[in-house]
Amino acid sequence: MEKLEVLHFPDQRLRTKAKKVNKVDQNIKNIIDQMFFTMYEEKGIGLAATQVNIHKRIIVIDISENKDEKIFLINPEIISLSNEMDSMEEGCLSVPGFYETVSRPKSIKVSTLNLKGEETQLEADGLLATCIQHEIDHLDGKLFVDYLSNLKRDRIEKKIIKLKKDGMLKSRKATPNYKSAI
Ligand code: NI
Repeated sequence: MEKLEVLHFPDQRLRTKAKKVNKVDQNIKNIIDQMFFTMYEEKGIGLAATQVNIHKRIIVIDISENKDEKIFLINPEIISLSNEMDSMEEGCLSVPGFYETVSRPKSIKVSTLNLKGEETQLEADGLLATCIQHEIDHLDGKLFVDYLSNLKRDRIEKKIIKLKKDGMLKSRKATPNYKSAI
């Protein structure tokens, strides 16, 4: 299988709002397989289709230790969010090597489609809840750096542009705490 190219901030294509999947067919299943492959290759724990320049509402996640618990969401929609918030250090495959603390609702309920195209619901808290919210943001063209101050975001943008110019961006992916890169 071929690894898909992951777009990097500040690429404007990451700002695209993804469209709903109309029909869960073989094409969608192939995209999901390729996204899992790419996510595992990039040592991430989550990936949104937007990040690989596919503007459909699809997310893949695996937060398990052994990388054997695949979770995918098609047309995910948040049904409810807890008032209680949780602050976690987040990273992103589209912002390689940068980690910042973001505060989000601690638990969520989402609706999604299964491979038969039927609507199901999923409840999540902790890391999984953070992951799902981070990825849904991607589908809406939003990045975790948008939650930071302008100063911090501009600093990260400048550093990434320089790393890319110097051909050093790829080496930053091999980071010890890659677990939080979503
Ligand atoms: Ni991300």
